[in-house]
Amino acid sequence: MKFGHFDDQKKEYVIEKYATPLPWINYLGSDSFFTLLSNTAGGYSFYKDARLRRVTRYRYNNLPLDQDGFHIYIKDGESIWNPGWQPVQSELDSYQCRHGLGYSVITGSKNGIEARQELLVPKHDNILLQRVTIRNNSTAAKDIDMFSFVEFCLWDAMDDSTNFQRNYSTGEVEVEGNVIYHKTEYRERRDHYAIFYTNKPFDSFDTSRESFMGLYGSPRNPQAVLQGRCGNSLAHGWQPVGAHHFHLHLESGESFSVIIGLGYVEVPVAEKFIAPSVINKKNAYELINKYSTDEQFDQAMNNLKDFWDNLLAGFEVHTDNEIVNRMVNIWNAYQCMVTFNMSRSASYFESGIGRGMGFRDSCQDLLGFVHMIPEKARERILDIAATQKADGGAYHQYQPLTKKGNSDIGGGFNDDPLWLIACTDAYIRETGDWDILKEKVDFDNNPELADTLLEHLRRSFNYTLNNLGPHKLPLIGRADWNDCLNLNCFSEHPGESFQITGPSEGPVAESVFIAGMFVKYGREYANILSHLGIREEADKAYRAVEQMSKTILESGWDGEWFLRAYDAFGQKVGSHECDEGQIFIEPQGMCIMAGVGVETGQAQKALDSVKERLDTRFGIVLNNPAYTTYRLNLGEISSYPPGYKENAGIFCHNNPWVIFAETIMGHGDRAFELYKKTCPAFLEEISEIHRTEPYVYCQMVAGKDAPTFGEGKNSWLTGTAAWTFTVLTEGILGIQPDYEGLTINPCIPHTVRQFKVNRLFRGTMYHITIDNPDGVEKGVRAIKVNGESVPVGPLPLTADKEVNVEITMG
Ligand code: BGC
Ligand code: NOJ
Repeated sequence: MKFGHFDDQKKEYVIEKYATPLPWINYLGSDSFFTLLSNTAGGYSFYKDARLRRVTRYRYNNLPLDQDGFHIYIKDGESIWNPGWQPVQSELDSYQCRHGLGYSVITGSKNGIEARQELLVPKHDNILLQRVTIRNNSTAAKDIDMFSFVEFCLWDAMDDSTNFQRNYSTGEVEVEGNVIYHKTEYRERRDHYAIFYTNKPFDSFDTSRESFMGLYGSPRNPQAVLQGRCGNSLAHGWQPVGAHHFHLHLESGESFSVIIGLGYVEVPVAEKFIAPSVINKKNAYELINKYSTDEQFDQAMNNLKDFWDNLLAGFEVHTDNEIVNRMVNIWNAYQCMVTFNMSRSASYFESGIGRGMGFRDSCQDLLGFVHMIPEKARERILDIAATQKADGGAYHQYQPLTKKGNSDIGGGFNDDPLWLIACTDAYIRETGDWDILKEKVDFDNNPELADTLLEHLRRSFNYTLNNLGPHKLPLIGRADWNDCLNLNCFSEHPGESFQITGPSEGPVAESVFIAGMFVKYGREYANILSHLGIREEADKAYRAVEQMSKTILESGWDGEWFLRAYDAFGQKVGSHECDEGQIFIEPQGMCIMAGVGVETGQAQKALDSVKERLDTRFGIVLNNPAYTTYRLNLGEISSYPPGYKENAGIFCHNNPWVIFAETIMGHGDRAFELYKKTCPAFLEEISEIHRTEPYVYCQMVAGKDAPTFGEGKNSWLTGTAAWTFTVLTEGILGIQPDYEGLTINPCIPHTVRQFKVNRLFRGTMYHITIDNPDGVEKGVRAIKVNGESVPVGPLPLTADKEVNVEITMG
């Protein structure tokens, strides 16, 4: 069942039924101020850090679902409703939510009144803007009341949801003119406050939640709305809120509109007060003046649209499949940008108070946005590298505000360092900026230990070689990409971390997956050295890579597929000898991407085994058979019920690795078949099963062993975004940035006869037409640039702004 449709022209997803299977959200903001917004106007705002600067409150896992947000209430006689349906849940006569790129528009109508909420966060300013328009479409004049409402968070979201003995006494507000100021803790160490204003005078207001909701009221039946008037309350402690009320008399056909801003304002510490206890409002006034008229609002919306149009124009595909086009041209790219902004911090599945930036997550996310924002990618690489430890290991996470490695979790996730090579190489291939390797970057955030980025890559590479186990395969440490394969932890008691309990970094447990990574990214490192003319070291690195490739085939091959690991007792994991968990997806994808066994037959065998044992109609499960009991020697993976998460769930993140592997083997039909299985837009028709947004990827879909097979979870913040973008654009469409230029080498379904791509690369817009006259799946036989034949190989770099390329497959 569908709950809406794509509007590709406007780059929007249009939700037509408010009761979507889960809240379907959007992200507003792309600089410092962000808002998560659901299709019923639920959500919250924060400045930079979802934990430390939470502007409004959101109760996760609440009942009823998704009741906190940016709701507008309408009271029309006895009838009370919201344009987004929630939280009152009155039946609406019509409803629509358009999620666009960085903005959303929610429209509802009832009894002849239409209410429309346009929401956006403008570029460069710390403010959520809403324009609310109420129109009387009925034949008679009407008197109605309209209310806005937000509940402030007392800034530190963790503290806000735990430290009630203090928080119930600290809340402070002020009201001046049309502006509500939320200034809790401003009297002491904070140099920021929030504002909630309107561009027209309101008739009444509230800043105390109890006054607005009533002592035992709720968002579904607020006392103020029932009464048709707020209490002009000033909050002292308890729960500060912002509510504006407008009494409207609307003739038939008449409309009223108001701009409502929720802003975050900083004041230099020395200028916090203009008189004892009188807060300095200058910056607030400036912000308000910038966003007080319809023209200013429209301009902000247009700027936002221009920003996204420009960003997306750098990669545009035209195939005969509109779903592919909309994913590449709009939604997959958009999701990559959201992962750039959010990492894994704030979504409807990530509370914003848990994880910081992941080392491996951030490196992989970069693969999906490097072509859109290369300068920010550069900065990100240097930030990540600065948290690397001096021995080449990595802090598993770091904090976005401080950019410091997080010592609570520490390091020892032995795949982490190699991802730094992956993202740096991708950055160089995209930009040709070899100078980045000369940048001096801290180790362990300690300037005294700073060295070049190249030295960081060297230590990443050597870290693997310095940490080999009994079979000369890389030691896994606390876990590899699969955070739940905890072979050294032995966590026995509830509440213990699966990853950092017990010895954690043992000398025996080895990962075939990291071995595959070492071959792939170790080779990229060697290519970098070779390009820099560091010949001897490059040769040595190539030899180490070759050796690892052999070791995989000797000790990491199970007969029909690649083994997953050896546990701390030297027992095989992911082998036909195991009772459960006989085969895992990760080493199949990674080893073949690295080229292991491609020439000698193992790769094909492994892919056949994946098809036979792991493939389902919703994608490839992570392992099979699922673990049915908890296993101390394996850890968190076996803690999940069969079919969920890392225990045989369909982990969308690593499906693209197998798709890549299929393209390496030249199987365009199969690659595309697999691509479609996890692609959300292809699942739109079964949204009642898939449940998460049809416009973005989710991390995990319940696998074939799960009672809810096909059900998605953890949408938005997942490495899936970057990897699916990369596999579709580079593996399937075959547009591959390389040191010397763009290489075009598609691997497509044999039925595709032609497609076109516009790709901005190093300042040149390549207009590429790919013809497939013989219906092959892979292979390029001729290339013309501006009408002239050129040898098959990378397209020559040029100073021209535009180039026409014709590719003939065959
Ligand atoms: C999840 C993993 C995640 C890890 C992060 C686990 O509970 O299953 O997907 O990577 O937590 O620490
Ligand atoms: C999610 C984590 O963010 C990521 O780092 C990890 O690789 C996957 N889960 C698999 O465990």
